[in-house]
Amino acid sequence: MSLLVFGERGQVGIDMQRQMGPDAPFLLLGRDRADLANPDACADLIAKARPAVVINVAAVRDETLAAKDEDYAMLVNGTAPGRMAEACAQIGAPLVHISTADVFDGSGDVPWTPKDTPGPLNALGRSKLVGEEAIRRAGGAHVILRTSWVVSAHGDNFLTLLLKRAAQETRIEVPSDQISAPTSAYDLARAAQISAIRVLEDKSLSGTYHYQSKPHVSLSNAAREIIAVAGLSCEVIDVETRGAIPKPLNTRLECILTETQLGLRSPDWRRGISYILNDLGQTV
Ligand SMILES: NC(=O)c1ccc[n+]([C@@H]2O[C@H](COP(=O)([O-])OP(=O)(O)OC[C@H]3O[C@@H](n4cnc5c(N)ncnc54)[C@H](OP(=O)(O)O)[C@@H]3O)[C@@H](O)[C@H]2O)c1
Repeated sequence: MSLLVFGERGQVGIDMQRQMGPDAPFLLLGRDRADLANPDACADLIAKARPAVVINVAAVRDETLAAKDEDYAMLVNGTAPGRMAEACAQIGAPLVHISTADVFDGSGDVPWTPKDTPGPLNALGRSKLVGEEAIRRAGGAHVILRTSWVVSAHGDNFLTLLLKRAAQETRIEVPSDQISAPTSAYDLARAAQISAIRVLEDKSLSGTYHYQSKPHVSLSNAAREIIAVAGLSCEVIDVETRGAIPKPLNTRLECILTETQLGLRSPDWRRGISYILNDLGQTV
């Protein structure tokens, strides 16, 4: 299988490279070779490379950046995946694309199913939803995997930022009203590759799926558990979510379809966290 991946240096891109053997027939492109702010160039790359399957893990994921420059976020998260999907449809290659639970408005306390109606609260969620819609409109085989709270040993994410603060401060405030589950980039990278194989084998599996670890947990309780497992002794204070950018509070995802159709089970996030802490050389 020849595989073309957009998003070489992101959390998921890095972990995907770790999973590929040295002889794996895949090409991973970073921003230097494939800038998603130039959607036509990304489509041209697909047309020239003619891969069997394409995975897109590149995206603007910074809510502040997306709020400041929504046009840019729309280009990268909305237009580019749509043009990629059109190019994929033309050569008959499925597209696997990572999206977010933040396409939902976060109301209620039950997990969102793939059939629920999205209603993003902020610019980032809106741009990701536009990307999803453009992929579906392109008409080719695709798997859209929505997820949440992606964590890894690389770069800035909830876990690495938490550990930095917990090592320096004695008490930190963490929202207790956001409920979801941390999903390891390593597990997500693997899920994207398995989805690619499944949809390549059977294009009728094309559709929108949810992939999230289990069990669901509040952000503050996840923080407590991570701090304890890392052997740190910082107190976590429950607070309400605040800030200029509205955030969906309930981003629990129901993942039954993903298990029955794609054969992907939701991993336990505590296991994923242990692996990441091992990667970081923390006590576990
Ligand atoms: N992180 C989360 O909590 C979270 C939650 C839900 C869904 N997701 C989704 O999961 C996927 C992977 O996210 P992640 O956590 O791995 O994010 P990440 O670590 O920020 O990686 C995103 C990658 O996208 C690249 N990128 C950004 N703008 C680009 C552009 N104009 N052209 C080319 N590449 C560009 C970045 O390149 P540079 O390295 O050059 O900046 C980075 O390598 C994304 O689709 C994201 O929306 C993430």
